Amino acid sequence: MIQYLIRGAKPLNGTVTVSGAKNAAVAILPAALLVDGVCHIENVPDISDVRLFLQILEALGARIRRKSPNCLEIDSRHVHCATAPKDLAQKIRASYYLIGVLLGRFGKATVSLPGGCNFGSTRPIDQHIKGFEALGATVDVPGDTVFAEAPEGGLLSGHIYLDVVSVGATMNIMMAATLAEGTTIIENCAKEPHVVDLANFLNAMGAHISGAGTDIIKIRGVERLAGGSYSIIPDQIEAGTYIAAVAAAGGNVLVQNVIPKHMDCITAKLREMGLSVSEYDDAIRVEKTRPLKASKVKTLPYPGFPTDMQPQVGVCMALAEGTSFITEGIYDTRFAYTAELTRMGAKIEVSGKTAVFEGVESLKGCTVRAHDLRAGAAMVIAALAAEGQTIVENAHYIERGYECIIEKLTALGADITRVETRDDDPVSAAG
Ligand code: EPU
Repeated sequence: MIQYLIRGAKPLNGTVTVSGAKNAAVAILPAALLVDGVCHIENVPDISDVRLFLQILEALGARIRRKSPNCLEIDSRHVHCATAPKDLAQKIRASYYLIGVLLGRFGKATVSLPGGCNFGSTRPIDQHIKGFEALGATVDVPGDTVFAEAPEGGLLSGHIYLDVVSVGATMNIMMAATLAEGTTIIENCAKEPHVVDLANFLNAMGAHISGAGTDIIKIRGVERLAGGSYSIIPDQIEAGTYIAAVAAAGGNVLVQNVIPKHMDCITAKLREMGLSVSEYDDAIRVEKTRPLKASKVKTLPYPGFPTDMQPQVGVCMALAEGTSFITEGIYDTRFAYTAELTRMGAKIEVSGKTAVFEGVESLKGCTVRAHDLRAGAAMVIAALAAEGQTIVENAHYIERGYECIIEKLTALGADITRVETRDDDPVSAAG
């Protein structure tokens, strides 16, 4: 098990550089399988979700060359296999993107159902399947595996109106339609920055996609994607996490390599709560000059407040003066982290999709568990703000999405240590 040991109540000061966006990378890497050529991809975050995807691509026959820690060359010319390796695919929810790309490139796909972070009872993929069927595919899900097959001659164009605004369905259908015959229209699309980034990547490889970032995306199918160069956008949620850490623990930090426009939905809320925020071309400076004030948040699809920042801002609310409210508008529930925060001294009542926070003056360190990636990030933030030592268990979740988090926080003055224990060896590595 990976644990983080954090001694808190120290402000954060200095500069942090944000890595490439996880949720763009986990779509762009499989999208490289659509390319009958070489993709040169920069700003790829070195996180465990990305490393897993690279293993899947290699198992399918792609050749991968790491030119530097964050720069990859992927050559998918020799890929012929349309069956994703079950053991690897089941480890990551975003493996659902393999259905769209394998279907698009080979006319068939066999992919085990996604795993990953699980919020609420289900995270269905019915909208993905509806999209593939609109492109003429037949899709069967007899057990834990999706079998999809295009009609003779390949996928056709289609007109899809999504019943729910889904990031995954928008990107998956976009990928499948890239090599389909004719023009596909997707309505009620997700507009997240990573949706636009995937469209830009595919266009850089030779696709014809317009409208990404609006409600309607049009994909004019092309015969072949020939390859090219692309740089992944900075991670909006990673940047937001460091900003929330300053709001909770105090300090003055320059967060660099960000697209400030992508951050508005997060910084607007933290400004309202009293954080001082200054924007530059590709950086944001945040400073805590006064105690945080209570606020209200409802998570919504972009440009609304992102569900992936809900636990991190929850920590800020736990420490803000007065009564704050969060309504989770995307998932059935994403409040498992509040029980851990309560053990640190927070006062939180959860009822269905709403959590009510009665702000407290301080949190106290104890042993807490990361329930998923963003809940884990919230535990780190709470620990940075808390008095005494906190042990964050299950920190492997955090490493799914945060590159070099220990190094980045240490450079900001945090007292944080990573400890890896094996079943047969209580404490085996630190750093
Ligand atoms: N939904 C359906 N049917 C579908 C697809 C989605 O009902 O076919 C529902 C979901 O149950 C959910 C809502 O629609 O209530 C939105 O889900 P969406 O499809 O947008 O989520 P996702 O694509 O599975 C991505 C991110 C998540 C992030 C959400 C929302 C990736 C790999 N994951 O998931 O990221 O929370 O969009 O923005 O891109 C994270 O990074 O921590 C994370 C969980």
